[in-house]
Amino acid sequence: LREQALREINAATDLQQLEKIRVSLLGKKGTITEQMKNIASLPVHERPGAGKILNELKDAVQRAIEQKKEMLKKIESQIIARKYWVDVTLPGARRNVGHRHPISLMLEEIESIFVSMGFKVVEGPEIEDVWHNFDALNTPEWHPARDEHDSFYINDLLLRTHTSPVQIRTMMSAKPPIAIISPGRVYRRDYDATHLPMFTQVEGLYVDENVSVGHLKYTLERFAQMVFGSERKIRLRPSFFPFTEPSFEVDVSCGICNGKGCQACGYTGWLEILGAGMVHPNVFKSVGYDSEKWTGFAFGMGVERIAMLKYNIKDIRDFVKNDKRFLEKF
Ligand code: PHE
Repeated sequence: LREQALREINAATDLQQLEKIRVSLLGKKGTITEQMKNIASLPVHERPGAGKILNELKDAVQRAIEQKKEMLKKIESQIIARKYWVDVTLPGARRNVGHRHPISLMLEEIESIFVSMGFKVVEGPEIEDVWHNFDALNTPEWHPARDEHDSFYINDLLLRTHTSPVQIRTMMSAKPPIAIISPGRVYRRDYDATHLPMFTQVEGLYVDENVSVGHLKYTLERFAQMVFGSERKIRLRPSFFPFTEPSFEVDVSCGICNGKGCQACGYTGWLEILGAGMVHPNVFKSVGYDSEKWTGFAFGMGVERIAMLKYNIKDIRDFVKNDKRFLEKF
């Protein structure tokens, strides 16, 4: 019995099997346990001898099981370690960290340029009334910009179509000299590769005595040089806005062009970057300023457009697609 028991124990290949063997020998109905019970039925003088032998057997079997158990445990933990093997010298998994949107970054850059020139940043409501968005800006009823097809109306209110109403709000709540910029979202019914129904503008307004086109040009040229490079120049082309007279389209010269020409520049060597002009006397009138005394310039630019020119982006819709491959470039 002893030899057979020890052989079985030795042959066990895992802990479960070993436990079964233990039960079959030492469990309540185990072979050794049964033998122990049988002692009672032996003649009295044989009992001590048999008891001794069985106790020794039991001890030996128990010891063998314990030893085997330790061995199997070690083997099993080695198998687990091999299965779930971890190389602690490998570099950790890098987590992607997000960052601000390219338009936010561009806007921040534009703001800091004008702040460095002494302009204050002010904001206005995105839901405007017709008076601030159009009438006060000398934009008469018949002007195409007032067509329902260009604007989003909500009863008597509308989503502002430009940031120029903030000119009106600023002048009505302050006295010259005024030097402000006003960034924010504007809305138009337009959608293609160069237009979004919601985009970002930065308005500029400077009002004082004796403000001239020279001040306007100097300010915007400094701005263009800080955004695009110190070698850049700007030019003013005559244009029309109801709220400025004269009005200009402002172009920036191309950067250094290589043999293939100026990639982002088209054929003329100039890129249109913004609209501007001298504040129209009628605008001063609508805010109660003396148009004989005060003069000023104003400008408005599309932040998406500036970013597209600076980074050579072809489709404005890339800004709102949330494609990480695009966003990660900034
Ligand atoms: N508000 C004009 C636009 O949205 C831009 C502009 C602002 C032009 C100020 C002149 C002066 O097109």
